[in-house]
This record gives sequence, C-alpha cells and structure tokens, in this order.
Amino acid sequence: MARKIIIDTDPGQDDAVAILLALASPEEIDVLGITAVAGNVPLSLTEKNARIVCELADRTDVKVFAGCDKPMGRVLVTAEHVHGQSGLNGPVLPDPEMPLQDQHGVDFIIDTLRSEPAGTVTLCPLGPLTNIATAFERAPDIVEKVQEIVLMGGAYFEVGNITPAAEFNIYVDPQAAEIVFKSGVPIVVMPLDVTHKVLVTRARSTPFRELGTKVGIAVAEMTDFFERFDAEKYGTDGAPLHDPCVTAYLIKPELFSGRHINVEIETKSELTMGMTVADWWGVTDRTPNAMFMGDVDADGFFDLLTERLARL
Ligand code: BDR
Ligand code: CA
Repeated sequence: MARKIIIDTDPGQDDAVAILLALASPEEIDVLGITAVAGNVPLSLTEKNARIVCELADRTDVKVFAGCDKPMGRVLVTAEHVHGQSGLNGPVLPDPEMPLQDQHGVDFIIDTLRSEPAGTVTLCPLGPLTNIATAFERAPDIVEKVQEIVLMGGAYFEVGNITPAAEFNIYVDPQAAEIVFKSGVPIVVMPLDVTHKVLVTRARSTPFRELGTKVGIAVAEMTDFFERFDAEKYGTDGAPLHDPCVTAYLIKPELFSGRHINVEIETKSELTMGMTVADWWGVTDRTPNAMFMGDVDADGFFDLLTERLARL
C-alpha cells in the first residue's frame, strides 16, 4: 500500500525534483498535501513554486498550503545565490492557476495527523523544520502519531554548506531542528554526506532532457541552473541533488545505507550554529535518535529518477 506523506518544502529546484519523483510514484507514495515554508526563498515564492511544480506534473488536485514565513527564533536566511531570485530559476514555467489552500500549513499538518490513524503518516521535510516543530509545539498530541520523519538536512563528514559548520536547512532554523530531533519520532536523515554523492553530471541530466517531455526538459533546465553555482563551489562535475534523496528513499530504501546514531543540534554558538553533532563513531552514551545515512547507490538513484520522471 502507498505510504501517506506530507511534503514540507521550500522549492528550490531540488525540492521540485523531489516533489515530481513523489507524484510520479503513486504505487509507493500517496501525497496527502504539500506545506510550504520559508527557506531557499521567502514563503510567498515557495508556496507559489510548489504550485508551479504540481501544475508542471498536471496534478492540480494536490493541496498546497502556506506555512511559516520565518524561523522560530531567528531572522530568515535565504539562498538566492544558489537557486536564483525565484527559487526555481532555469526553466521558464507559467505562473500557477491552481489555488493555494486557505488553511495554514501548520494546521493542515496537525489536522491530518489527528484525523488519520496513528502511525500511518510520514512527514517529509525538505527545508527548514519550522512548520514541523511549530506543529509539534502547538499540538503535542500529534507527535506520537507520526509514523516517521524522513528529512534532508545536516551533515557529518561534509560538515557544512551555508557556514563552515552547518547545512542550510538546519542552519536556517536550528531551534526547530532541535525540537524535531528531540521529539522521539523515528527519523531518517539524508545529510550532505549522502547528497554530495548524488551529483547531476551532464551524462546524468542528458537522459532527463532526452525524455522530450515538459517535465524532463524542465528538470534538465533546473539541474543545469544550479550546476553553474555548485559545480564551481565544490569543484566537482555536477551539482548535488539533495532533496530527491528523501522521496527516493520512500521508493527504494535499499539505495541508502547509514547508522542509527545520536544527533544533537547546536543552537547556541554563533560559530557553529545549526551544526548536526552526529555521534557516527558511537563515542558517547547518548541515546540514538536518528537513522543517519552515509552512503548511496548514486547510479541506482539516477536510474530510478529517470524511469519515474518518464511517467509524468
Ligand atoms: C538544502 O538546502 C536547500 O538549498 C536545498 O533545497 C536543500 O534542501 C541543501 O543544503
Ligand atoms: Ca529544500
């Protein structure tokens, strides 16, 4: 049976690809709704981009909600330098016509977890954890009802991408991340250690373009766009495709491997703010709270992604 999920997201080209992969995989994934959060770009753009992506997939039936417009306790940091002014630079896509839902994204998360049977809804955060943590704070009764959280965020060996010590999603709202990592919900983490192995080389983006569909061409144009920035930054051939690791995991978990370990979030030191202090080597007696992934079959991942995008 397809797994019921809520995608919590700040599109973002890589968020867009993650959403498309989910929508292309109805046997495995049932998208109950998409909640937008401020992150890569402000909320007014992330909610709009989420709707653009649904329309690109001809899925105007998907419910898109706007959530929190700023982190819980800090000023919003955005990433236009990576994603462009719109957050979705690259392809030229029409403004969305499908409506934004009236309900606040956090209320949708709360209501869904209250109305669905306990243990049947998975949360998939692809941006800062503000919406999820706000929902947990406002409605503590929902925490034990979450089946699992599968998120993109953090790093151990790769350390940081927005500061020398922190990954973007965790850095933007460390307070929210701390609430989520201390919640007791089973968590699967796709950190930079994994996503930096999922590099969109030319050889891997050409098959998207060769699909010849509007989705395939748009995805090729999105990945070409951030490759300009990221490939230069990292000195690699091809930029990392972070967020689709989350939805790929829901379809084919065997592509990924990692360790069940303790992960704490730095929330006080300005120097290392948002660092995911991951006890990879088991040097503390702190209780494991997350399945922290470390490796991925990147060719298997791109085969899956290309095969699924071809369906849209
Ligand atoms: C994460 O930050 C965002 O820029 C990407 O969409 C991804 O979720 C990578 O650090
Ligand atoms: Ca994202």
